[in-house]
Amino acid sequence: MDLRGLLRFYFLLVFVAHPHAHPSNGATSLDPKSQRRTLQQEIGTCANSVAKHGYQCQEFYVTTKDGYILNMQRIPEGRVAIANGEKKQPVLLQHGLMTDGMTWLANQPQQNLPLILADNGFDVWIANSRGTRFSRRHKFLNPNTKEFWDWSWDELAASDLPAFVDFIYSQTSQKVHYVGHSLGCLTALVSFSQGLAVDKVKSAVLLGPIAYMSSIDSILLNVAAETYLGEAVELIGMAEFNPLGDPAVNDYLRSICSASALSCYDLVTLLSGNNCCLNASALNYKEENEPQPTSTKNLIHLAQIIRTKVIARFDGLLAYNLQRYGAYTPPTYDVANLPRDLPLFLCHGGNDALADVEDVQYLLYILKSRIGDKLKSLFVKDYGHLDFIRAVNAKDLVYNQVVDFLKSQK
Ligand SMILES: *[C@@H]1O[C@H](CO)[C@@H](O)[C@H](O)[C@H]1NC(C)=O
Repeated sequence: MDLRGLLRFYFLLVFVAHPHAHPSNGATSLDPKSQRRTLQQEIGTCANSVAKHGYQCQEFYVTTKDGYILNMQRIPEGRVAIANGEKKQPVLLQHGLMTDGMTWLANQPQQNLPLILADNGFDVWIANSRGTRFSRRHKFLNPNTKEFWDWSWDELAASDLPAFVDFIYSQTSQKVHYVGHSLGCLTALVSFSQGLAVDKVKSAVLLGPIAYMSSIDSILLNVAAETYLGEAVELIGMAEFNPLGDPAVNDYLRSICSASALSCYDLVTLLSGNNCCLNASALNYKEENEPQPTSTKNLIHLAQIIRTKVIARFDGLLAYNLQRYGAYTPPTYDVANLPRDLPLFLCHGGNDALADVEDVQYLLYILKSRIGDKLKSLFVKDYGHLDFIRAVNAKDLVYNQVVDFLKSQK
């Protein structure tokens, strides 16, 4: 069997043989790595990755309108506080698919975007999407039930993002600069184009944006798309997709990797493709911290964009669509329907398997037609999907420009 065949088989196995949510703390695993993960889980992102570098850091919990209790970190100032009499402007950092807020903090402190922003006088807030290790609580749902995992990027855009923005606004009385990576760009476009949260947003930076996906190279998502998982949704239930926390899924994925010709040294590469400029020591970070769990439904919903080439709400079975949307097919999103005065800075890479150059160029084209010269862009030829958050040279190639862009909005 070729790699695609193996992966297709894997998908069937995971989705059919593991239809329900799994215990996710590695409780059944003897792997020392999962024990280390549990330890980090207890102390949180501030203690793990921020305070030790000499920055102030606070943990917050935010409840969404559909009851999820989400974790945020706030880094209110740089290592050296700058008192220039101005109120600091808040920046919200939203991670992408199968990572969490720690992903921004994997490198040396002087290389990490949150700390660079703090040192440049911004009030930095880090989001953690529902389902990831610090955001696994709900007012009444238990993460071991399939009801907890019945969501996709529809809900990340409709509930999580507005909850984060509203919370920051309530704490600071200031409009928020938004910085998203990967799926964090799609959810922003979906939110903002529907008028959600955007009245409290001052500008947006999109790094490696996923939106239209006609030409993507992601093996995992392509296979998911080809396997026509959408139709199987009702059969398999809607549950957690957690390769790290479920030893059987993890082992199986690893055996696919070692049997394939690909150098898929980790699972995130399988999803997001290769990168140019990661520090070899960041590999340890990835082994221990990623991929973070997401919902199976979220992956299926992404696969639907690839299959249909349309950005629309989740396409369930007929009964699901009729009940939710009162129509046979889900309504589409017009993601470029943004306020004309919203400044946007879009950064993309020439080697990005998820945010393919052609797809991003199309996105740039339709955004430009709506918001004109409020749109700026930056193309980094060698960058892959994760280079935007982890590359050792991201400060020089991307973050300095991001800081300039945000400062120019003051
Ligand atoms: C890579 O990471 C190691 C360990 O964290 C660090 O000592 C080294 O300076 C990093 N290299 C670069 C080029 O940033």
